Amino acid sequence: MKSYPIAVIAGDGTGPEVIAEAIKVLEAASRKFNLKLDYTRYDLGGARYLRTKEAMPESVVEELRKFPAILLGAIGHPEVKPGILEKGILLRLRFELEQYINLRPVKLYDARFCPLKDKKPEDIDFVVVRENNEGLYTGSGGFVFKGTPHEIAIQESVNTRRGVERCLRYAFEYARQRRQGQPWRGLKPEEIAAGKKAQLTLCGKTNVLTYAFDLWERAFHAVGQKDFPDIKRAYAHVDATTMWLVKNPEWFDVIVTDNMFGDIITDLGAMVQGGMGIAAGGNINPQGASMFEPIGGSAPKYTGQGVINPLAAICAGQMMLDFLGEQASAQAIEAAVIKVTREKIKSLAAGKMGYTTAQVGDLVAAAL
Ligand code: IPM
Ligand code: MN
Repeated sequence: MKSYPIAVIAGDGTGPEVIAEAIKVLEAASRKFNLKLDYTRYDLGGARYLRTKEAMPESVVEELRKFPAILLGAIGHPEVKPGILEKGILLRLRFELEQYINLRPVKLYDARFCPLKDKKPEDIDFVVVRENNEGLYTGSGGFVFKGTPHEIAIQESVNTRRGVERCLRYAFEYARQRRQGQPWRGLKPEEIAAGKKAQLTLCGKTNVLTYAFDLWERAFHAVGQKDFPDIKRAYAHVDATTMWLVKNPEWFDVIVTDNMFGDIITDLGAMVQGGMGIAAGGNINPQGASMFEPIGGSAPKYTGQGVINPLAAICAGQMMLDFLGEQASAQAIEAAVIKVTREKIKSLAAGKMGYTTAQVGDLVAAAL
């Protein structure tokens, strides 16, 4: 029996409620596929910060580093000033554990849940690979003349060749693996004849950010040309990307982009797949401790009512199993989620599912 130590940070707000359902489903999958997940719980988040005035002790970072995977509920508390918990826990773990990829699959499971007219599940099935350690999120910058009429605020976008290239390589590799040799349906016959299997779109802003995205673009073509001849390379400016994600989401297979553009377009992606109730993501260090989370946040107004949708957390658990190399159980969870969303769930929105949070977890566990 394979066994994996898992760190669990249920966190704030609705985090504990959705994590309970994710673990319910992971346990059902473990029984079926003969796995053992060994959970160690960490008390982190707003409540702990208010109690101790410390977002996260150094010793916790060192402990978390030793786990292959971390399952995270939500971080964010109405009584804590914005930025403290985000920087002190979420961004700190992403950076210190070198989770340099933020992976966000966007897949529509049922046409009923798509806000876009006439789009079907086969039209919305793409993945965003967001660079997760650099760009505008490193905290580099500062103030000059703070608080005076001459104040200057500088926020620097950091793009290293090493950081950009490892992100691009991950994205190319991911695009190659994703369809297991079956060419992506958006490719033209002549592209398939030329040996292309998948498409990777670089989302940037080469027309204005002429340093940062010049580096991205050069690295993109250099890496792609040399090592990934089977992947079609495409480019889209970020503003055009937001337009096409609404108008023609079927144009995308895998998208790779920097930290801030990725942050923005993945929320748009979450909406086109049916909302925060179903959107999951992974913060990945391909060689180390990776962290999986529902991307919806702590939702204070729904806390403790049993109305929040746990499917995003359940899907985060599924991504975690996939990362751990447990493809069979991961696929079974996804199939169960698809079945439940198609056959049972009335809406993916909190309070409108037709079931309580715990009942949705029960339905997915039973469908496995
Ligand atoms: C996300 C979140 C975070 C981010 C916040 C909470 C710091 O919005 O995971 O996309 O901006 O990366
Ligand atoms: Mn975000």
